[in-house]
Amino acid sequence: MASTDATIPSSARIYDYLLGGHRNYAVDREAAELFLKAFPNARQSARATRGFALRAARWMAEQGITQFLDIGSGLPTEPNVHEVVRQVHPGARIVYVDNDAIVIAEGQALRDEPGVITVEGDLRRPADILTNPNVTGLLDLSQPLGVLTVAIWHFMPDTALEQAQTELRKGLPPGSYLALSHGCLDTTPAATIRAAEALYKQTTNPLTARTRAQIAALMDGYTLVEPGLVGLHEWRPRHGDPYPEQSGEALACVGILRST
Ligand SMILES: C[S@@+](CC[C@H](N)C(=O)[O-])C[C@H]1O[C@@H](n2cnc3c(N)ncnc32)[C@H](O)[C@@H]1O
Repeated sequence: MASTDATIPSSARIYDYLLGGHRNYAVDREAAELFLKAFPNARQSARATRGFALRAARWMAEQGITQFLDIGSGLPTEPNVHEVVRQVHPGARIVYVDNDAIVIAEGQALRDEPGVITVEGDLRRPADILTNPNVTGLLDLSQPLGVLTVAIWHFMPDTALEQAQTELRKGLPPGSYLALSHGCLDTTPAATIRAAEALYKQTTNPLTARTRAQIAALMDGYTLVEPGLVGLHEWRPRHGDPYPEQSGEALACVGILRST
């Protein structure tokens, strides 16, 4: 079941606050403000994350992808992923997935429209997402998908990683694209990591930053497209993009699923 508790900060609402959104509560703002004291670049980092997600989605659409799965979608944010990919393919279909009840409710109320749905799901159980009748009713799983898993894997405990990676890879048709970003131990000062871990320990989503090698392993079975696994802003920046901020605290990449 999707869970939420308005008295406990949530990663989705903290992210919304850092992006300048207004779908957050006092507990989220207080936690985020404390975090900003330890990590003044947190807003820039959140915006760089959003910029990567939108660029990756648009790039997948430009490669011919017309159906998308955005796992850990977060709250509706301007622009939304479906708005960006529909500039390339007006008929693109999108399923937004999250395990936070408020994200699901707000997504369904504010973002869903014909060809766009928001469903409850958990990256710890990708097979459940890929067999959800609402998902299979909208997306054709015999054809490649564009899958976004941006700023979500670092909310997964070590114990859940391998099963999630394997289930997702086995459930997707070859030729699918996977985008991910992940907080990186190798590129972030230890004090920032400690502040981030302390912040998210209070939330419904404790955070685990990982090494470059551990992040790269999440892409086993996929061939990375250029420029590979790089800082968020280094992934195919283009003049005039929304959220062009620089941030090296998380690494990002897109890969194409190989046939086995
Ligand atoms: C930082 S936000 C990322 C938002 C969005 N992906 C983006 O890049 O702009 C992380 C989101 O992942 C969701 N989340 C965390 N763990 C999850 C899980 N195991 N399954 C599904 N969603 C999860 C949170 O509820 C939150 O909405």
